[in-house]
Order: sequence, then C-alpha cells, then structure tokens
Amino acid sequence: MLDDNTCEKIIYSQEEIAREVKRLGEEITRDYKGKEIVFVSVLSGAFMFVSDLVRSVSLDSYIDFMQVSTYGNEAKSSGTFVVKKDLTLDIENKDVIIVEDILDTGYTLSNLIGYLAKYKPASVKIATFIDKPARRKIDISADYVGFVLDDDYFIVGYGLDYAQKYRNLPYVGVLKEEIYA
Ligand code: IMP
Ligand code: MG
Repeated sequence: MLDDNTCEKIIYSQEEIAREVKRLGEEITRDYKGKEIVFVSVLSGAFMFVSDLVRSVSLDSYIDFMQVSTYGNEAKSSGTFVVKKDLTLDIENKDVIIVEDILDTGYTLSNLIGYLAKYKPASVKIATFIDKPARRKIDISADYVGFVLDDDYFIVGYGLDYAQKYRNLPYVGVLKEEIYA
C-alpha cells in the first residue's frame, strides 16, 4: 500500500517541485517568445512533469509523447535503443523540447536526439526534471533542469517509478531499501 512508509526521506516536497517547475516554464516562455513549441515527452516517467510544465508556458504549444527503451548492451556502448511509441505529430522545421524525467547515464536522451534528427526539426532542446550528473556516461547536458541530484539515490514519486509503482506520490523521495532489497 502507498503510505508514508514508502520513502526513507523526502528530497523534493510538493511545494518545491511546484516552484521549480513554474520557474522552468517561465524560462521557456521567455526563451521561445514569438515561437511555437513541440513538447516531446518521454513516457512514462515524465507524464506528471510535462503536465505541470506546459501549464507554466504561455506560448502556443503542441504536446506529443514517445515511449522508448535503452537496454544495456556490452557490445554497444550506447545500449540497444527501441522505440515503442513514435511521434504522432510532424516535427519538421519545428522547435522541439524533449521533456524527460531523469537525465542519468545519458544513453536514453542521446539516442533519442539521434533518432529525432531524421524528422528534421528546426531545433531540439532538453528539459529534465532531475539531472543526476554523477552517473553520466555520455557527454550530454540539459538546457532546462528542475533539480540537480548529486547523490546517487534511487528516487520515486512525481512520475518516477520503482517496478512501475510509486509514480503517484506527489513528492520525490528516496525509496526504503527494504522495498527493493
Ligand atoms: P539514462 O539517462 O539513459 O541512464 O536513463 C535515465 C532513465 O532511467 C530515466 O528516464 C528514468 O526512467 C530511469 N532512472 C534513472 N534513475 C532513476 C531513479 O532514481 N528512479 C527512477 N528512475 C530512474
Ligand atoms: Mg524514463
């Protein structure tokens, strides 16, 4: 059952999340003034982040979703990249912002950017709810970052899961070890 015993501690409260996501939306509104944006959200982890983010952007926007997987693969340093759900919208000559939950090793986002290039967008930037720079394997950085997490915690909530659970927690917390041990 989802209760207060799921997490060892809360690292980002509902209030802090609302404040930072609003800040990102305002930055994007300023940076893209006079343009239309296509937000490409990566399912499932970013669903809550994108829904709050776009409500803080006061520009004409399109919202689309992709579902992708990167499987570990010793032979290929970037892993094997699989697109499970592709774009619905045409992004040719459009300004795209990829919306991701966590930028961790960087494999997922670098593969995704490479994949989207074939659709010839005018520009591609990255908005990530959380940046975990400590585990980066690929030289990639996000243009819009909600929070930088320097500790190598496994976190859940606000869309982030452990084994598909805990996405509906309204805050981000460190999962209790006994749950995944
Ligand atoms: P990477 O950048 O290719 O390593 O992939 C990052 C993805 O791994 C994210 O989109 C998350 O789905 C997942 N991930 C990484 N760290 C965590 C975590 O602490 N909790 C939940 N999911 C995570
Ligand atoms: Mg993800």
